[in-house]
Amino acid sequence: MNRVVHRWTSLPGTRFARDAEGHVWAVGARRQRLGPAEPALLAALRSLSTEDGDGLLGLPAPLDVLHGGGWLGVEVSCDGKPLLAEFPLGGVPLPAHVDPPRPPGPARLSRFAVLRRDGDVFVMESPRARSTVRIASAAVLDVVIDPDSTALPEPVRAAVLDRLAAAGFLGGPDEEADFRLRQWGPHELWFHARSRWGGGASADPVGPSTWARDVFAPLPSQHAAVPGESRIALAAPDRPATALGALLDERVSVRAHDDARPLTLAVFGEFLHRCARVRRTMIYDDVEYTARPYPSGGTAYELEIYPVVRLVEGLAPGLYRYEPHDHELVVLPGVDPGICDELLRQAAVTAMAAEPPQVLLLVAARFGRMLWRYEGMGYATTLKNVGALYQTMYLVATEMGLGPCALGNSDPRLLAQAAGLDPLVEGTVGEFLIGSRVRP
Ligand SMILES: Cc1cc2nc3c(=O)[nH]c(=O)nc-3n(C[C@H](O)[C@H](O)[C@H](O)COP(=O)(O)O)c2cc1C
Repeated sequence: MNRVVHRWTSLPGTRFARDAEGHVWAVGARRQRLGPAEPALLAALRSLSTEDGDGLLGLPAPLDVLHGGGWLGVEVSCDGKPLLAEFPLGGVPLPAHVDPPRPPGPARLSRFAVLRRDGDVFVMESPRARSTVRIASAAVLDVVIDPDSTALPEPVRAAVLDRLAAAGFLGGPDEEADFRLRQWGPHELWFHARSRWGGGASADPVGPSTWARDVFAPLPSQHAAVPGESRIALAAPDRPATALGALLDERVSVRAHDDARPLTLAVFGEFLHRCARVRRTMIYDDVEYTARPYPSGGTAYELEIYPVVRLVEGLAPGLYRYEPHDHELVVLPGVDPGICDELLRQAAVTAMAAEPPQVLLLVAARFGRMLWRYEGMGYATTLKNVGALYQTMYLVATEMGLGPCALGNSDPRLLAQAAGLDPLVEGTVGEFLIGSRVRP
């Protein structure tokens, strides 16, 4: 028979609830309002777990909103035997250019794909894929390892490979020939995708979940004494602190800004100039290098600053790029203001602040500046460079009497969408709040 059936299913752990106003919600790791509890929607939700669709086109229209929100998976079976299940990573729909095209040439597994055991099934994940695939049959595993395998009859083998290709698990010659892909070590792209918000490569939580509370004891703040160690007391400085010493003592994170007296364009410009301008350029071994106020591993200076402005006197709200060579703000065209609002809103949540910041500085990396030269440690060096920039911004802001605060994450897809960035080429690796400081 070899009849391949695709069945829509809800993401594991999802439940559907009706609120007092009669709206239906999808509830899982996050929540989404689906719409009024009308019979068509309720019937479509019921069909998820009970009815076989006759192929991927069988998605009932009321479920579009669920599909777009990343709540639906698809189970593929053949003659009643499960082959695999594909689950989206959830969150904001990926921009179109992230969608991997079907690689040319013979099918083969991407060099970024990883196969691992999860309980009783094998799970396949990749930082280039938009979903996780759970493999339910040894014959599918054979096809994953050897796409020419005869473990599955031909139409079934083709259906499995089609699903893997659509999900982004197959790689082509471009993984070696295209610099955008070749520059990434698999572990580096994995780390980048899995440690950022936005469902990069896994649906696993990313953030301060305090998962270990009640399971493991927290570590004390001080290093444990080693048996047999001895200690040498150090004298505290007995001369007045230097200007830098005083700044270091004064530095704190400030999460609320004074909207009655906001940042001005002149002050914001001074801050950027003192933190991040290009001091000079030079050529070495046919490669352009620059000097700037903060240090940079490999002199790569791969970091770009994208200010998302809510309130700066003399500067319209919106998204800009700081051009450090000429000390200018580049006005990015056609940016959806809704994305800026969402970025500012997320920043407030991350900082646990009542109001969005006056300015959110998104720090993006032009990965190729670093990865062109460094193998295996390039991405790690970029993150260290973010730390060097953060401390420079903290100290300059403190000296200028401004309110600075580093942040730990944002959804990189929002900047990618707003600024039209290819996430393999340039993407968010840091975020920092800046604004006028409330005076006592
Ligand atoms: C890499 C990094 C990430 C941070 N992420 C956040 C964050 O997401 N939210 C937040 O409110 N503060 C964040 N902070 C600020 C720290 O919470 C803060 O530095 C720490 O509590 C020490 O306080 P202080 O900076 O006032 O001395 C971050 C700081 C750093 C260096």
